[in-house]
Amino acid sequence: MRRKLDGLRMLITGASSGIGRALSILAAEAGAKLLLTARRADRLDELLEVIHAKGSDAAYVAGDITDAALRQQLFEKAQHDFQGLDVLVNNAGIGAYGSFEDASPERLRQLMEVNFFAPVELIRLFLPMLEQGKTPAICNVSSILAHRAVPGKSEYCASKFALHGFSDALRAELSTKGVDVVLVSPSTTSSEFAASVIEKRGKAPAEGKFTRKPHDVALAALRAIRSGKHEVIPSRSGYAMVLLDRLWPSLADWAVAKYG
Ligand SMILES: NC(=O)c1ccc[n+]([C@@H]2O[C@H](COP(=O)([O-])OP(=O)(O)OC[C@H]3O[C@@H](n4cnc5c(N)ncnc54)[C@H](OP(=O)(O)O)[C@@H]3O)[C@@H](O)[C@H]2O)c1
Repeated sequence: MRRKLDGLRMLITGASSGIGRALSILAAEAGAKLLLTARRADRLDELLEVIHAKGSDAAYVAGDITDAALRQQLFEKAQHDFQGLDVLVNNAGIGAYGSFEDASPERLRQLMEVNFFAPVELIRLFLPMLEQGKTPAICNVSSILAHRAVPGKSEYCASKFALHGFSDALRAELSTKGVDVVLVSPSTTSSEFAASVIEKRGKAPAEGKFTRKPHDVALAALRAIRSGKHEVIPSRSGYAMVLLDRLWPSLADWAVAKYG
């Protein structure tokens, strides 16, 4: 379904930096009314100033997205300020580097809580509201590693594969209800993501010529939300990796085992 962002009510998680911040600014410029969330309130204050200076409407609720009470506060704020919601963007996410053998059960839990359970529970909470919305959509920010897993990030890959699978199933379930489900699968992006991983025990991905800017990923995500595209892979290198994995999986296995 095609949608105009002007006047749409959007909730964006992980808005305090990187892709979420860029997406918030672009959505505000397109005329969306924004409800933002992340843990760092000072960052959200600064973002609100930027958005208000553009003459756009935005508010935030700060907190940890894994906290059910925070999710309920977001629901009540959307109800109170916007009388509903049209687009939910699940963007907040964390990573960890290091082999599975050396990792604790807590690392797995934390990654799954932030990257999978929180977005899914936010969708469960907001779905009835979205179904009453105008041209409703759910946008889940996953990763290229939800298509091709790599060593040293087993829990992260698993959390993003889970979000990918959930999104595909939900898209089919909601196809008769007029709610689009858009999956965004970025490759390495120059954000605070690498600096804020919860554990660094191995090789961190190096930024290189294929690294994308948050602005470019956010633009691709917004384009997909506008057009109701099922999935966007906002980099050629990511697309090439997915193609290689589909067409020549044994070569892809060899390449990731050797180069990570
Ligand atoms: N950067 C990459 O290379 C890359 C590649 C593929 C996919 N992605 C995905 O893209 C999404 C955005 O990442 P990014 O690159 O923009 O990274 P980022 O700059 O680190 O942003 C992550 C955002 O998530 C929020 N967040 C993290 N844990 C949270 C929690 N427990 N509760 C609430 N908010 C939380 C952070 O805010 P606070 O710290 O203020 O809470 C921040 O706003 C993530 O889902 C990530 O997995 C990133």
